[in-house]
Amino acid sequence: MKQQNLLPLSVQETIEQRRAARSFENKSIPPETLNQILSLGLQSPSGFNLQPWRFIVVKEQENKEKLKACAFNQKQVSEAAVVIICCGDRGVSKPEYIESVIQLGKDNGAVNDVYAEHIRTSVPKLFENQPCFESIEAWTNRQTMLAVAYIMMVAQSLGVDSCPMEGFSATQVKEAFNIPAEVDVCCLLTLGYAAEPFKKYGGRFGIEQVCYGESYGEQFEV
Ligand SMILES: Cc1cc2nc3c(=O)[nH]c(=O)nc-3n(C[C@H](O)[C@H](O)[C@H](O)COP(=O)(O)O)c2cc1C
Repeated sequence: MKQQNLLPLSVQETIEQRRAARSFENKSIPPETLNQILSLGLQSPSGFNLQPWRFIVVKEQENKEKLKACAFNQKQVSEAAVVIICCGDRGVSKPEYIESVIQLGKDNGAVNDVYAEHIRTSVPKLFENQPCFESIEAWTNRQTMLAVAYIMMVAQSLGVDSCPMEGFSATQVKEAFNIPAEVDVCCLLTLGYAAEPFKKYGGRFGIEQVCYGESYGEQFEV
């Protein structure tokens, strides 16, 4: 992986400072910062390393306005410096795509012939039988949203605020941005520099409320 500048904030500082930005300053993101956000964000893990995420990076004002109209006119969409349409491609179980993942793994010394064969046989079965997801859309969402979280965290660490958004019509976004039928729109992610009024921290449920020990509903002790 190409050496990049170290991120200025620690993981803890990044987590503590991030808030969903509802308003942005009229200020662009330097290209090298955007490049670092995307390239580090793309290091996110995925099942079989299939990396089904696809990101449409929208910077032109005209296109942001178009996107805002698909997102119930939420103003942060047109104010943000960049809006990423975060998609998941259901076509990643196709043989030629699987071969590209295998080749990537081989180029990086991580995949040998035995593992390559395992990927070749297991991925089509996974998509056919779907033992661990309700639908392939659920699968693409699972993988893509993790990458979105990575992108959000890298951005915050570089001082770039964000807002993940589910408030949009996927049908409208797909039509307006030429997104193929087999590609799902998982969320929109606005990026930029937050403007006042800043969103207040809404709190989080604690370990005792959301973590169980060993079995669902059982009390967890650290
Ligand atoms: C999947 C997802 C979808 C969201 N959709 C929207 C949205 O459409 N519009 C919006 O203003 N905020 C949206 N948010 C932001 C949440 O409201 C926000 O993360 C939550 O209130 C917690 O606040 P915080 O992120 O500032 O801690 C979304 C967050 C997530 C994770």
